[in-house]
Amino acid sequence: MSDGLFLTLEGIDGAGKSSHLDAMEALFKAQGRTVVRTREPGGTPLAETLRGLILEQPMDPLTESLLVFAARRDHIVQVIEPALARGDLVLCDRFTDATFAYQGAGRGFDAKVLSTLEQWAQGGRAAGLLQPHITLWFDLAPEIAAQRLAGARVPDKFEAQPVEFFRRVAQGYEDRATADAQRFVRIDASQARDQVWQQIKTALLARAVLAPHSGAAR
Ligand code: TYD
Repeated sequence: MSDGLFLTLEGIDGAGKSSHLDAMEALFKAQGRTVVRTREPGGTPLAETLRGLILEQPMDPLTESLLVFAARRDHIVQVIEPALARGDLVLCDRFTDATFAYQGAGRGFDAKVLSTLEQWAQGGRAAGLLQPHITLWFDLAPEIAAQRLAGARVPDKFEAQPVEFFRRVAQGYEDRATADAQRFVRIDASQARDQVWQQIKTALLARAVLAPHSGAAR
C-alpha cells in the first residue's frame, strides 16, 4: 500500500468549507506533498458534465442519486484511485457523505439504496470500500448558512432549497459523523474565518497529516 491520503470536506451550503481549500493545498505543498485537488460532483470531464445536470435540472431522487454515483465512479477510476496509488494527497470538496446528507436525509431517498450504490461505485477492491481517511465536517446552523448565502450569487438547485431542507441535510451529516467518529472531525464553522482556519490546522496536526513545522504555525 502507498501512503496516499484521501481527505474530504463536507458541510451544508454556506458553511464556508471551500474558502479554506487554497490555504490547505498550500500548506500540504509546503510540506512536500503532491496534492490532487478535486471536487464532487465533478473532477473529470464526464463527471463535470454530469455535475451541470445534477445542479441545474429537476429530476427525481433516484435519477439524481444514479447520476451522482455515475460521476463518482468515473472520478474514482480516473482520478482518486490513481492518485492514492501514487501516494498523493487527494483533497476533495465533498464525497459520498454529501449523497447520504443531500439525497438521503435532505431529499428523503432510501439510504439502503444509497449504500448499495456506494458498494457498486466504491467497492470491488481488495482493500474494501474506498472511503476518505479524514473528513472535515464544517458544522453550521442552517439559519446562519442561509444568511451567509443570501445574495452571494445566483443559487443552484440545492442552494435554492428552503431552510428546512438544510436542517435535514445538517442532521444527515451529524448522523454520519456520529456513525463514523474516527473518520470525522467536526469544525465549528460558526466561528470567524481565522478561528476556523486554526481549528483545521489543529485537526490536521492531531491526525498527523501535518508535521508541527513548515507553515503549520501560521
Ligand atoms: P458545492 O460543493 O457547494 O459547490 P459550490 O461551492 O460550487 O456550490 O456544490 C455542490 C452541490 O451539490 C451542493 O449543493 C451539494 C450537492 N451534492 C449533492 O446533492 N450530492 C452529492 O453527492 C454531492 C457530492 C453534492
